[in-house]
Amino acid sequence: MSDDSRPSPTGVRTAVVIPAAGRGVRLGPGAPKALRTLNGTPMLIHAVRAMAASRAVSLVIVVAPSDGAAEVKSLLDAHALPERTDILVVPGGDTRQESVRLGLDALPPEYGIVLVHDAARPLVPVDTVDAVIEAVLEGAPAVVPALPLADTVKEVEPAGASGPEPVLATPDRSRLRAVQTPQGFDRATLIRAHETVTDNVTDDASMVEQLGLQVVAVPGHEEAFKVTRPLDLVLAEAVLARRRLTDGF
Ligand code: C5P
Repeated sequence: MSDDSRPSPTGVRTAVVIPAAGRGVRLGPGAPKALRTLNGTPMLIHAVRAMAASRAVSLVIVVAPSDGAAEVKSLLDAHALPERTDILVVPGGDTRQESVRLGLDALPPEYGIVLVHDAARPLVPVDTVDAVIEAVLEGAPAVVPALPLADTVKEVEPAGASGPEPVLATPDRSRLRAVQTPQGFDRATLIRAHETVTDNVTDDASMVEQLGLQVVAVPGHEEAFKVTRPLDLVLAEAVLARRRLTDGF
């Protein structure tokens, strides 16, 4: 543990698990998604820096592709990261859920708060990270950053790529939110969720919902978007260019 790592005023330490073991097929052929570069720097490095930017975070556990842990380790060694943050690399699994669980297995006992952050969201601002941690510190067992939707959402009967899909319902948009990461958890709650819930889910908070516990949403940020399709890479580089103009780096 580095001297400058910050337990919260209540003494609770925060660690982040970054599942980065996906192949990123939707971005097309090439490197695994987390290793794709934005302005010359791998997305994973951007994501680790975004987490380490919070002074509350003293450990980041990166979950690497199962055959790529050594490569990810040397990548992290080759880039400047804040001294106060410890970094661990562990091999991942076949699903995102399994990768997160393998990250949790490596979590030292002194961490009471765990964030789970997708490597595919490299540009989340530090204020969003801190808001999530703050809400967990205030007693929420699970916290998600979330944004209202711009588009109206329809529930359809999926018809595959082939034909028109019958619309079944139009949920009230004012009650819907698009959920981002980092999602924040009381450590014991997240570990119990991973031990209990076996359904395949797309986020960790929904596992806590299945335990019957209250998940709360705090404001997300438009720059916390997920880099999924080729156009998202263009947007991410534009965000970085704007930051360089306004922040000078
Ligand atoms: O595929 P998707 O975009 O939903 O992946 C979300 C995150 O989960 C990504 O950061 C990806 O690297 C990670 N993941 C993982 N292990 C897998 C599949 C995805 O760590 N087996």
